[in-house]
Amino acid sequence: MPTALILGASRGIGLEFVRQYRADGWRVIAAARTPEGVGALKALGAEAHQADLTDPGAVAGLGWKLDGESLDVAIYNAGVLGPRTEGAQPVTREDFDRVMHVNVLGPMMALPLVMPYVETGQGGHGGVLAVLSSRMGSLGSMDSNGSWLYRVSKAGVNAALKAVSLDARHATCVALHPGWVQTDMGGKTADITPQQSVKGMRQLLAGVKRRDNGSFFNYDGTPIPW
Ligand SMILES: NC(=O)c1ccc[n+]([C@@H]2O[C@H](COP(=O)([O-])OP(=O)(O)OC[C@H]3O[C@@H](n4cnc5c(N)ncnc54)[C@H](OP(=O)(O)O)[C@@H]3O)[C@@H](O)[C@H]2O)c1
Repeated sequence: MPTALILGASRGIGLEFVRQYRADGWRVIAAARTPEGVGALKALGAEAHQADLTDPGAVAGLGWKLDGESLDVAIYNAGVLGPRTEGAQPVTREDFDRVMHVNVLGPMMALPLVMPYVETGQGGHGGVLAVLSSRMGSLGSMDSNGSWLYRVSKAGVNAALKAVSLDARHATCVALHPGWVQTDMGGKTADITPQQSVKGMRQLLAGVKRRDNGSFFNYDGTPIPW
């Protein structure tokens, strides 16, 4: 039975990853920040751990709990949007810390801890290590500066993913844009449902090859410039 790890999975896209992998017969290990989130994960049959991914102790604790695992897929999903701004307005330290801690510090703590377990995934051939990024973090296609703190944070996590990919010997590390998705973050008027987004990303994750290590993809498999 293949195993997936989903970090930050209490609702939205993360919870849909858990639902679809469980429905497909996978073993799922997942983490959520709150007891309610842990309850939602357990209800789907996941092995659930409570962890605020901005807390170094909690992330280290998760690392210990993974001891001996082989992960076929591991996904850092947690993210916050922060202030919806127009134009490059001054950023407050409080907003900066909140957004950068969830979107960049969390991955920079978790990805190196998780990597060894992904290296042994897929029967020793190496699993897939993914972060939920955003097209808004693409420098190459940036044509708006709305919500620029979020953009900067996703550019940051993209750099972290690329850097981690250089350590991978067997694993394939990718950054993913999920589309504009109908979640608490994306809002009701977004283009696609979490079901559509996650279906596309699961297909992508099932099909990536080692040559894709260190790449950035849209949920439909189209490459996105860094
Ligand atoms: N929706 C979109 O259109 C869209 C577009 C591009 C990229 N993305 C990215 O896709 C990912 C998922 O987005 P979503 O739309 O599903 O967002 P969402 O509905 O707002 O859910 C965000 C998830 O992140 C978790 N989280 C936040 N801070 C955390 C922390 N400190 N520790 C653990 N978990 C934490 C939340 O847990 P709690 O319930 O505990 O708060 C929740 O499960 C994010 O990285 C987002 O940036 C989304």
